[in-house]
Amino acid sequence: MSAVGTEPAPEVAALKPPIGMLAELTHRCPLQCPYCSNPVELVRRSGELSTEEWADVFRQAGAMGVLQVHLSGGEPTARKDLPELVAAARSADLYTNLITAGVLLTRESLGRLVEAGLDHVQLSLQDSVAENAERIGNFRGGHAKKLEVAGWVVEAGLPLTVNVVVHRQNLDHLDDIIDMALGLRAHRLEIAHTQYYGWALSNRHNLMPTRSQVERATAIAQAAEERCRGRMVIDYVVPDYFARRPKRCMDGWGSQFFAVSPRGNMLPCHAAETITGLTFSSVRDHTLRWIWENDETFWKFRGTAWMPEPCRSCDRRDLDLGGCRCQAYALTGDASATDPVCELSPRHDVVVALVELDDRSNQPDYIYRR
Ligand code: SF4
Ligand code: FES
Repeated sequence: MSAVGTEPAPEVAALKPPIGMLAELTHRCPLQCPYCSNPVELVRRSGELSTEEWADVFRQAGAMGVLQVHLSGGEPTARKDLPELVAAARSADLYTNLITAGVLLTRESLGRLVEAGLDHVQLSLQDSVAENAERIGNFRGGHAKKLEVAGWVVEAGLPLTVNVVVHRQNLDHLDDIIDMALGLRAHRLEIAHTQYYGWALSNRHNLMPTRSQVERATAIAQAAEERCRGRMVIDYVVPDYFARRPKRCMDGWGSQFFAVSPRGNMLPCHAAETITGLTFSSVRDHTLRWIWENDETFWKFRGTAWMPEPCRSCDRRDLDLGGCRCQAYALTGDASATDPVCELSPRHDVVVALVELDDRSNQPDYIYRR
């Protein structure tokens, strides 16, 4: 999809710039959550982009029109240069959101990030029950530390989002999880159902909730949205596997968002590296703009032209864009297939079999992320 001559190709000329960026600063993380969406092959510290390389990425992103950067990982606070990275992102006019497990932060190190211009913190918790939370993250003492960090964030005057990835092992505690987030004075609670790729796919047998769990949790979340109005926003979406149609994923592949992996691969989706066979361009070899406009992987699932039937002639194709490419790959081995979550997909049987599976032990044998 390269531009020829001096005039860009019409599809490149019509392309809007991205508005959001996920900066995966490192894959290192003290927690080992079995639902992690990082690829199973993790990047080592020696392969990570340097401070200067990230600063250049942020400058380019700001110049392209990107409005916000999510500083993530792995655990971004494992990077000693995080204050410099926050400052570099702020001076590129990016709104900075730190996505953190919190356990490596101290009051002082958070203060340095605030001084550098940090705008927002999204803190992940694994459960409201300490013992279960620590079993899920495989990190002793982590839960109490996270509660303390939440207090420091609010004291520092930053807006706090609490993020809880939910699954079979914590979904029955949703009422208490909502109360916990209210008690922490979070502005927002994201209740994120596990998405099954990366490490989560290896742990699906431990994590997939039952239909009755999902129905109960959905009712609790909907009632809480009303109850918490004016105090805390609740983000809750019915999980894909229990819906009849898939969700629009990433607002469209290569449409509004991109991620940069720790080694500098620019990705149309944070989980795109779980799709084997795709190739990714590196910010070490090309500018962000060049990759956004020219890279074949970004064009592969942009828009609707790539779609097979039944999506191609479906009246929902512009609404859901055929669902999630990473999920289609994880479930069918073909990233260009209709998302099997859709009842119209010829492979919907795969999802039915998973949801109805009743071999669901409550004694999880997690395969921990390493
Ligand atoms: Fe969406 Fe494709 Fe299903 Fe239609 S057939 S609802 S476009 S996933
Ligand atoms: Fe990658 Fe949906 S998570 S396209």
